[in-house]
Amino acid sequence: MTKIKRIAVLTSGGDAPGMNAAIRAVVRSALAFDLKVFGIYNGFEGLVSDNIEQLDNKSVANCIQRGGTILKTSRYPAFKDPNVRKQAIKNLQKHKIDALVVLGGDGSFRGAKLLGDEADIRTIGIPCTIDNDIIGTDYTIGFDTARNTALQAIDKIRDTAFSHSNNFLVEVMGRASGLLAMDVGLAGGAEFILIPEIKVSVDELVERIRSRKRLKMGSIIVVAEADKPGRSFKIAEQIEKKIGIVYKVCVLGHTQRGGTPTVRDREVASLMGYHAVKSLLAGETHKMIAYNQERYVTVDFPAPDLGARPFAQEDLLEINRILSES
Ligand code: F6P
Repeated sequence: MTKIKRIAVLTSGGDAPGMNAAIRAVVRSALAFDLKVFGIYNGFEGLVSDNIEQLDNKSVANCIQRGGTILKTSRYPAFKDPNVRKQAIKNLQKHKIDALVVLGGDGSFRGAKLLGDEADIRTIGIPCTIDNDIIGTDYTIGFDTARNTALQAIDKIRDTAFSHSNNFLVEVMGRASGLLAMDVGLAGGAEFILIPEIKVSVDELVERIRSRKRLKMGSIIVVAEADKPGRSFKIAEQIEKKIGIVYKVCVLGHTQRGGTPTVRDREVASLMGYHAVKSLLAGETHKMIAYNQERYVTVDFPAPDLGARPFAQEDLLEINRILSES
């Protein structure tokens, strides 16, 4: 097994709180094992445009508590083009980089896998997304901070909902996944939680609102954005049209992506960053660090055609129904 000497790290796709803690862990672990470390700015785009710089211990000082990513990030669909990747490989060779750590989601790991296939380089992924929807790991960096941010917002909205006896639809992120909505809805005492995995028609929702056992003093429905951010406005319109009850809409949007990472996100990020470097040193490649059954392990990159992690929490919806009705 050839020894690696120079590793690079980049962040790609949507930012997630805790990414900086993971970058810090990668950099400091690598330096501790006598590797040279390079930061690639702006994700794969920066790799192609040679926006690369050597990092030292000081480069990652005072960042563990910051949201976002000090390396900046981008969504870069052009990386699907093999000619674009050729330029990326040239730059990796120019800097004699022999291993790459990619922080991001499954789209970013597809890029990492292709690079690993086409160049003489080891690749490892660290799962970062507030959606917690990556197949192969029970947890992704950023999820805990996002759900706490959303929960704080709901608690605040609840004050107004109660004071005015208003109804609210609060829309949270998550793309194709309802995991964020589920946790936030349950912890926030939502009356209903609408997630993309379990379809509820407006007629069914209206029926449930009608058959409430008690008159609510202000009600909150948590809506996962699903594939249509802003879909809550239409739902509110339809409810009002059908039964004349007004629901105000609050779309939490990108507030959920920023902010100081929680203990959980900093801890998972620090340990995943460390394990990423260790697994590269052990000769592993084309792998993702995963947190499964309370252990850090390496698994294959998620297969590109599998999509988001399946939802396996149907029972929570029923429990939430019981808790919000009594
Ligand atoms: O994947 C993270 C996420 O925040 C999703 O929850 C959301 O649908 C999407 O990114 C938004 O992406 P963008 O910031 O590119 O609009």
